[in-house]
Amino acid sequence: MANKSVTAIAHPNIALVKYWGKLETTLNLPATHSLSITLDKLETRTSVIFDPDLQQDQIKIAGHIAGTDFSARIRNCLDQLREQTASKLFAQVDTTNNFPTAAGLASSASGFAALITAANGALGAPLELRDLALLARQASGSAGRSLFGGYAIQHRGSKDDGSDSFAEQLYPAEHWPLEVVVAITNTARKTTSSSAGMLHTATSSPYWDNWMAQSDPDIAIAKAAIKTGDFTALAEISEASCMAMHAVMQAARPGLIYWNAATVDLIHLVRSMRASGIAVFFTIDAGPQLKAVCLPKDAAAVAAQLGSTPGVVETIHCQLGAGAHIVN
Ligand code: PMV
Repeated sequence: MANKSVTAIAHPNIALVKYWGKLETTLNLPATHSLSITLDKLETRTSVIFDPDLQQDQIKIAGHIAGTDFSARIRNCLDQLREQTASKLFAQVDTTNNFPTAAGLASSASGFAALITAANGALGAPLELRDLALLARQASGSAGRSLFGGYAIQHRGSKDDGSDSFAEQLYPAEHWPLEVVVAITNTARKTTSSSAGMLHTATSSPYWDNWMAQSDPDIAIAKAAIKTGDFTALAEISEASCMAMHAVMQAARPGLIYWNAATVDLIHLVRSMRASGIAVFFTIDAGPQLKAVCLPKDAAAVAAQLGSTPGVVETIHCQLGAGAHIVN
């Protein structure tokens, strides 16, 4: 089945219980469990064809032949896939995002989920979903979660070989159709990658052990809140996990800060909206964008208020989306 171009779409996911830090870097073993929701609207679209005439992988990002860090990570990921499927073929990869890349909008999650799904498809689907989740985790700790729609969990795992550190779906989107307003405050690429920031945090933050110890209880609370649809409980635990992730990195030496002034204004705005009865909470990743998670009835009001905040350049209103899938 080589020589067939396969295209896949994957959506970014945003973590409500955060992943930050690695136990091991070769297998990319996360230091924490994480729990996420997959968004619709934002998407990565990736086409892969394995070609016997190629002497090396040819990678185009947004239409340009790429020589970036990201293309090296794509090659690495394809190497793992070839190793597992005993394929010797190189690939032509064409990948495009319909949203800003490397700006705290989970482009690596959707990017690797789309790549792995398309590449496996182009090889005739030799690998099962569980194998794809393990491969995705190795490429990017948040990518396995984007293989799944709705609510997903990435297990930290406890085995040295990483075989129990995989993502899986907790619930489909229909279980509890929350909505998300993404407030973009700056579309520039971040200056410290997540991987570099995680390493710096683990090696220099005095709060590191507390951050890791909090993962088990936080995941249990978030799972229970989602199971019963308890918005207040999910709001509290999600904001706590987000603030703790930023606190542990801000306490690193020197401290790492991904926020700008508008991010801070938006945190206060979301909390005052919630105090006034609007069902909304925030989460923020390794970038200055704020994601406001809300009930569908409140989404229009949330989008209007976030959109009129100084410093917000765009808002994107998302519903929960599907997992990575092949489209041709
Ligand atoms: O998968 P990475 O290396 O891009 O890590 C992303 C980590 C956060 O987005 C900041 C948090 C998370 O759990 O997604």
